[in-house]
Formats: sequence, C-alpha cells, structure tokens
Amino acid sequence: MKRRIAILFSGNGSNMEAIIRELHQKEVEGMSIEVVATITNNPNARGIERCERLGIPCEVIDHRAFETREAFDEAIVARLKNHKVDLTILAGFMRILTPVFVHSVKALNIHPSLLPLFKGAHAIKESYESPMKVAGVSVHYVSDELDGGELIAQEAIAKIEGEGIEAFEARIHALEHRLYPRAIIQALKAL
Ligand code: GRF
Repeated sequence: MKRRIAILFSGNGSNMEAIIRELHQKEVEGMSIEVVATITNNPNARGIERCERLGIPCEVIDHRAFETREAFDEAIVARLKNHKVDLTILAGFMRILTPVFVHSVKALNIHPSLLPLFKGAHAIKESYESPMKVAGVSVHYVSDELDGGELIAQEAIAKIEGEGIEAFEARIHALEHRLYPRAIIQALKAL
C-alpha cells in the first residue's frame, strides 16, 4: 500500500531531515512510504539546503504574498491536494493555521514538551525552567486548538542535575528525531 506524505517546515528543518532519512522510499509494516512534497513558507529557511542535499524538491510558498491567513492556507491545501497527500507532517511549521487548513487536511505536529504542559513557542525554555523532574516530546493530530489535538505519541526524558539549556535542548531534539518517524508510521497505519 502506497502512502504519500508531505512535510511543512519554516526554519532549521532537522525533523524534516530525520523523517526523510528514516521513511522516504522505505517499506515499513506493509506500506511503501513516499515523501512527495516538502513545503516552506520561509524563503530563507535553513531546511531548504537540507532538501537540496537530500535530493528532495522543496516548494516555497511565502506567506507574505497573501493578504489573509485563509488565502495562504488555501494555497497550501491546493498544493497538498495536487500531490494527493495522505498525511501532512508539520515539522517546525511556524504559522497559525485556520479552519481552511485544519478542516480539510489530516496533519500531525510535534511539540517539544509533555503536552498539555507548555503549549506555545517557548516550550523548551519553560520546561527547562520548571520544577519538574522530567521533560519530553509530544506528537499530536492538528486540531483547531494550538498544540491541543489528540496525542498520538509522547515520550519523557529525565532532567539531569546541573545540565545547561543547550545540552537539554539537544537531548529534546534527539528525542524528537527518534519519536516523530515512529509516530508517523502509527498514524499512517491508522488511516
Ligand atoms: C522542534 O523543536 C519542534 O518540536 C517545534 O519546532 C522545532 C523545529 O525544529 N515544533 P526543526 O526545524 O525540525 O529543526
């Protein structure tokens, strides 16, 4: 069974790269997975270079060319339909999505905290500074509520006494790169 996925990103693109390396053109659990599109809203995203290196075409749809969030979302949805995408993967895609997107696209997102804790853009810092003994990563379906859709996978790591924020952040990202491909397989199986 063929499964077509698209990845949306805005910046660094390290999760996108991990997903491509792990899943693109791979046979997994009876599915043959193809990353059919990568799309960014940011013409200066570092991830564009990663796509070039990986030999995967990347499309830039600059949100600044659109008058409204809805018009931008319509353009993204149209591209995804064009590519006949079964599942869309948000990987550091820093745009607030409107119902135009959310109600017509089945999508996953990754967030660097144990949701529902530390929603929003400062999750790593907030979780680092919190008194909690564990931190972690969540993968969830995209819904109307920011960082609020149904969880599909979640993993915790123990905090290390005296660890600096850079080292902590590196461990969070390493966990993301392991967890996201596995969560995508799970979601593809459930389609
Ligand atoms: C990740 O920490 C992800 O959880 C968050 O944005 C970051 C993207 O990093 N949503 P990258 O662009 O994949 O390197």
